Amino acid sequence: MAEDFTPRDNEASDAAEAVARGHAVYTPLALTVYDLVVHGLSNRFAWECPTSRLIGLYEANLSANHLEAGVGTGLFLDRAGKAGFDRLVLLDINRNCLTRAARRLARFRPTLREVNLLEPITPSMAPFDSVGLTYVLHCLPGSMGEKLKVVDYLRPAMGEGAVLFGATILGRGGTPNRAARTLFDIYNAKGVFDNREDDAEALSEGLKQRFETVEIDREGCVALFRAK
Ligand SMILES: C[S@@+](CC[C@H](N)C(=O)[O-])C[C@H]1O[C@@H](n2cnc3c(N)ncnc32)[C@H](O)[C@@H]1O
Repeated sequence: MAEDFTPRDNEASDAAEAVARGHAVYTPLALTVYDLVVHGLSNRFAWECPTSRLIGLYEANLSANHLEAGVGTGLFLDRAGKAGFDRLVLLDINRNCLTRAARRLARFRPTLREVNLLEPITPSMAPFDSVGLTYVLHCLPGSMGEKLKVVDYLRPAMGEGAVLFGATILGRGGTPNRAARTLFDIYNAKGVFDNREDDAEALSEGLKQRFETVEIDREGCVALFRAK
């Protein structure tokens, strides 16, 4: 007998597919060229935000008790984490990313957790002093308000005075160059990005609703943020 599907079932499966499209691209093979394509070429020639600027953000904000959400290949922790960590936890929905980053960051003995950042993180974790969230929001489906649920789920893991920092590629505002416009078209069509409606105002507003101090700098298509 055929099972009954309600509109709510369909909505849930559409949402799950949209989340999956945001990270399916990170296969083991794709991750071998990720740093070159994203941090070597796209940051400079498309998004016009030098990778050194992002590394600087990590150097300025990393603590010894750090949680990284959406770790990718772990490049920023590798480059900026020279002082080492007492505790380093890596979160990602994609096991390939966790495996690759864990290998690269093995000297820091990271703990790995496979989680969807759009859902509450259980079991909860003892508080961290810093949380990194870089190049994740533009991969998530929905409006900026919906994406920032991620921050609500990360907040219980932030200790008193902890800092949340990171960056996201904005689809609105600024004047993207031709390379950026082409990549926006390709990535949004594939669902790797969902950032057509993302702008600095919504990001700033959403962070200000949740934190006392919010700093946002824009460099090319990228918003670099820091909130306490
Ligand atoms: C564009 S990569 C950024 C990686 C790294 N932060 C960087 O800047 O190089 C996005 C990362 O977020 C992860 N990601 C995407 N959607 C996610 C979700 N819903 N929950 C957890 N991680 C997610 C991907 O698997 C990937 O590791």
